[in-house]
Order: sequence, then structure tokens, then C-alpha cells
Amino acid sequence: MDIIAVANQKGGCGKTTTAINLAAELGQHGERVLLIDMDPQGHATLGVGVNDRDLPGLYEVFCEEANLLDAVLPEVVDGVDLVPANISLATVESMLAGKPARERKLLEHLEPLSDLYDDILIDCPPSLGFLSINALRAAQQVITPVEPSLYALDGIQQLQDIVNLLCEKYQLHLPITVIPIMFDVHTRFAHTVLQHIREQLSVGLSDVRIRHTVRVREAAYLGKPLTRYSPDCTAAVDYHRLAEELLCARRTTATTQPERCLDTTCDTTREVISMAQVNAKAARQMIVLTFDDIDCRRLQLAGDFNNWIPDQDIETRHVDGHWQKVFTAEPGVYEYRLIIDGVWQHDPTNPAEIPNEIGGVNSLLQVPVHH
Ligand SMILES: Nc1ncnc2c1ncn2[C@@H]1O[C@H](COP(=O)(O)OP(=O)(O)O)[C@@H](O)[C@H]1O
Ligand SMILES: [Mg+2]
Repeated sequence: MDIIAVANQKGGCGKTTTAINLAAELGQHGERVLLIDMDPQGHATLGVGVNDRDLPGLYEVFCEEANLLDAVLPEVVDGVDLVPANISLATVESMLAGKPARERKLLEHLEPLSDLYDDILIDCPPSLGFLSINALRAAQQVITPVEPSLYALDGIQQLQDIVNLLCEKYQLHLPITVIPIMFDVHTRFAHTVLQHIREQLSVGLSDVRIRHTVRVREAAYLGKPLTRYSPDCTAAVDYHRLAEELLCARRTTATTQPERCLDTTCDTTREVISMAQVNAKAARQMIVLTFDDIDCRRLQLAGDFNNWIPDQDIETRHVDGHWQKVFTAEPGVYEYRLIIDGVWQHDPTNPAEIPNEIGGVNSLLQVPVHH
């Protein structure tokens, strides 16, 4: 079960649109999806055509008046179940104030669902309060829609700070992937914002850009995902690609990443892992990969060493017309792929490779032990 928080404390940047349409696309791919509306405004609920404002939702679940499963509305869209929300959710924070472990309420309720769903998408509210913290605490990854604006970068940095705090406190690994929404890549401003995200912030940046189209607002108005309303419009095609990017990254990591344990009793295991990580840090080595014969506009690197997030924790250099990727890794054997001008492929300059789960090959990198 992959739990994804769609979060950005800025309003109107495409969170709900992304949560609904990514859920619908994953449902179309045969995934069992649960969409959780965690915004008291209930836009995700309305956006999939559920207009009844009196249905039990997370408010009742947090008040222990209902089980999460009692609140689930089945098949609101093909393959997608929904936990709805309404304005009562806004009062949950004050109600739970002072209660122990209140930031892990959602995680506790999701634990029994781990066999029922492949993906849980949480549509977060436009703030970094109790509800968003609960979503981040439960999630294994964060998707952050960003539209080009002066404040967008500041917002990502704040979200990153909160995520870092949570990761440190609870020993989590919670990568953030930014999805550019309504970016006109031909404008210099949008280009500058993207460049800043890529170079200054330690977040992943999706290769998919969700284009602007009036169909998105029309679909929301009619309470339908784009898969039902206008499956061929630009944004629908983009969300389709986003779902494929997500599934592809997951298949590639499936063999190498241990599944995150949802069980509450696992805290000691996490502690052991974190101690191992601390010890390993001492042995990390600087790796410089030089690519002699690759002629492209953009070269990214993703592998076991950076959780398969293109260019995360990797410095890119140009030396004598060659691309160089510089990063650190502890001794071991790593699988990786290159993303050459947006296309994922094995490293053509490296003969060491291994078949991967999706019918292609991954390249292999060995980092020897140095004494
Ligand atoms: N790709 C897009 N093209 C056109 N309009 C969009 C697009 N994505 C989102 N919107 C519109 O922008 C507004 C804000 O989107 P929404 O998903 O509700 O943001 P948030 O949940 O972050 O507040 C909505 O009116 C939505 O229909
Ligand atoms: Mg919203």
C-alpha cells in the first residue's frame, strides 16, 4: 500500500485536481485506490460527484464515532473509493488538542486497510496544521502541485522544513515530488521557477507538466474526473503520464526497497535501521560519474542511492563538454537509470546491467569499500 499525501499549504495550486485525477488514472490502471478528502472545504468530495454534505467522514472517524471503513463510499469512480469530508472536519484540531499521539491518528486508522488498497491518496487542506501533519505522518511520499508564482518556492521550502522535522522526529523517509501545474514552459518566468526548484531545493521534480485547460474547471463543476469527462484533453493526458511515472518508479524500486512497515509496533525496527544509517554515513564515499558520449539538453540520474528520484541529492557538472554527476553513497551495488531529455533508459556508457521488472534493463554501479 502506497500512501501519498497531496500537499501544499498554498490554496488554489491544483492539489484537489491532482488528487482526483491521479486517483482516477490509477483506478483505470487496475489499482485499488482510496481517495481521502482531508480538506474541510470538501472539494475532492464534490469533485467526484458526491453532493451529500451529511455523510460521515474523517471527522466522525477522529471522534471515534465511526470506523474508517464505515465512512468509505465505494467506487465513486472506477477503481476509486472515497472517504468524504465536510466542514465539521475543521473542528477536529481543537477537539483533539492535548490528546496523546494526535498527529498519528490517521496512520492508526489506515493500518487495518493495508490489504485492501494499493494506493491511498490524501487531498490535504491549504494549511500546515493538524490535518496536514496527520497526512504527512501517514504518508510514504508527498506530491506537491506547484503553479508558477512568486510565493511558490517559499511554500515548497516551508513544506520541506516541516517534512524534515517529521522525518527527524519519527525516523521517516518522506520524499517530496513537485508537479508543475499550469506552467507555460515558454515563459521565462516559469523556466526560472523550475530551474530554482531543480537547483536550490532538495525535492524531486516530476518530468510531467500538467497543462492548463478549461476542461479541468468544467470537469470539477460537473463532479467528474477527466477520465470520464474529457479523457483526451491535455491535462488528462498529463495526469495519465503522471500515473505511469508513479507506477514505473514503484515497479523499479519494488525489488530494492523494503516495504515501509505500518505496524505501530515497528518503532524499534525503525530505530535499528536509523542507527545502521548513522553508522553507514561514516563510510559514504564521493562518486563522480562522467558521461563522455551523451549529447543531450538534460541528463538526470535516478537509482537505489537516491530513492529513484531524478537528481535528488546529486550535483550536476559540465566538465570539458561532458556531463558529470556527483553524489555520495556507501559501499555496495546499486541499480540506476538515466533520464536523457526526459526519457528513462539504461546508461549507454556502462556495459554492466541487469534486467528490471518492467522489461527493460537497469545499469549497475559498484561502490567498493575504501579503508
Ligand atoms: N491544469 C489546470 N488547468 C486549468 N485549471 C486548473 C488546472 N488545475 C487546476 N485548475 C483550477 O484551479 C483551481 C484550483 O485548483 P484546486 O485543485 O482546487 O487547487 P487546491 O486544491 O490546491 O486549492 C480550480 O478552479 C481548478 O479547476
Ligand atoms: Mg483543494
